Amino acid sequence: MTTSVLVTNKLFEGVLNPLLSRFQVEVFQHDKPMPRALFKQKVGDKAGLVAMAMDRIDREIFEIAKSLKVVSTVSVGVDHIDIEGATERGIMVTNTPEVLTETTADLAFALMMTVARRIGEGERYVRSGKWKIPIYRRLLGTDAHGKTLGIVGFGRIGKAVARRARGFGMKIVYYDIVKADRAVESDLNARFMALDELLATADFISLHVPLDRSTEKLIDQDKLALMKHSAFLINTSRGKVIDERALVEALKQKKIAGAALDVFEGEPHLPRELIEMENAVLTPHIGSASYETRKKMAELAVENCVLALEGKRPPCLLNPRVFEECSS
Ligand code: DGY
Repeated sequence: MTTSVLVTNKLFEGVLNPLLSRFQVEVFQHDKPMPRALFKQKVGDKAGLVAMAMDRIDREIFEIAKSLKVVSTVSVGVDHIDIEGATERGIMVTNTPEVLTETTADLAFALMMTVARRIGEGERYVRSGKWKIPIYRRLLGTDAHGKTLGIVGFGRIGKAVARRARGFGMKIVYYDIVKADRAVESDLNARFMALDELLATADFISLHVPLDRSTEKLIDQDKLALMKHSAFLINTSRGKVIDERALVEALKQKKIAGAALDVFEGEPHLPRELIEMENAVLTPHIGSASYETRKKMAELAVENCVLALEGKRPPCLLNPRVFEECSS
């Protein structure tokens, strides 16, 4: 039987060649999520799946896809995949870390500067035609240089944000479940802080934790209440890390100064109130969305899929137990 692969999104020109030259490949040729019903219909006989962060890959899919050997997601985040369920069924799961680190850190930093310096408001002001006379005491923002940046989640992206902040003369504090090595702390001039202390201390707080049971609604009403009234919250991780209702309330009541968000609890659906708020900067989940990086992510996902289907260990394997068991 020929090995076949399902690709749930239109990727980039030529990126699928390593798959096309080896396997039978079916591609959902659209720039939108594959409808669930079609996904379920197509995945049944596939051994490989190259999927996107918006595809839910759960037990229902595993029940249908009895010959599935690998789920290769074109994302670093894997909260859309039931990894435990995959492991139980001997299905490898891979993702695309590292290639998107710098690009995502760029966006986190850009969002921080945008909300601090009210760039979105300035843009809207100019485009609306309201800028009729020179302004001096309007659209005053907040300096980032010299301020304290609190990084929650000090993995690859968190550290890349810290490197940028150093160049801006910011003080860096971080929280993570694992404390970084002394050498890393001293290289980045970053100081570990307990989460509550960090929230109460930092002028800008940037979230870089993966979404799992321990981080869902990590930033809730109580945590928001610890932040300074002058502080800003930046999120390029996953929307569900924040209790969005609580955030809307905090912004409405000016309990914090502002938020810059690339990810949302029910994206692409956002609360109307959030859309109307001037002290919120909103982007449509574009953390890794540079041409170069999205292409590299797709190439890496294809490489992971090819190697797994050829019985070799893919470079970004998240459940190595599966590989070890099938190669022993
Ligand atoms: C990721 O890679 O997880 C990004 O959020 C894109 O979905």
